Amino acid sequence: MNEHGNMNATEIQIDDLQFVRYITAENIDRKINEIARKLRDDLSDKYPMFLVVMNGAFIFAADLMRKLDFPCELNFVRIKSYQGTQSTGNVDIFMPPDIQLRDRYIVIVEDIIDTGLTITSFRKYLQNLHPADIRLTSILIKPEAHLHPVHTDYPGFSIPDLFVVGYGLDYNGKGRNLPDLYQLKA
Ligand code: IMP
Ligand code: MG
Repeated sequence: MNEHGNMNATEIQIDDLQFVRYITAENIDRKINEIARKLRDDLSDKYPMFLVVMNGAFIFAADLMRKLDFPCELNFVRIKSYQGTQSTGNVDIFMPPDIQLRDRYIVIVEDIIDTGLTITSFRKYLQNLHPADIRLTSILIKPEAHLHPVHTDYPGFSIPDLFVVGYGLDYNGKGRNLPDLYQLKA
């Protein structure tokens, strides 16, 4: 990592890019407490199914789940998007074959809502499986980057349209293990 070794540095380099510390693990933890409280208020008697979008959301999901004190389930999904030349883009969705979502309360767990393509496609896909409800939580949201209108029911931090790494998010596959979030140095 940070050719770096120091997991708590204020500035790090990953490949060709420099990043500065932006949101600390402590502040992220506080935000997740708020999200967990709202989820409990809304869904504690609904036995919700959390669908975690791999890979980026794995750390957020792990932290969030351990703050929920009501019955719930979790599964992982993989969504691959191909931006290509099409403005709409294309996505492939990989779900475990054996989960039943009919009449379930679903909460999608994302790391970041950027263009909104991933989540818009996934929502459409889920709608066809006739759940009772589909809600969305994301630890990060880039409102300026949205190309598709996305409503995040349980939002974390709204951030400017700058690349970030850490807390599950990667650059070239690296940086997911950093406890804090880092922003691309301007
Ligand atoms: P969307 O479909 O454009 O909303 O893309 C969302 C996906 O792109 C996220 O789930 C991330 O995996 C990735 N992504 C978007 N912005 C960033 C970023 O700043 N850092 C790391 N990954 C990002
Ligand atoms: Mg992702």
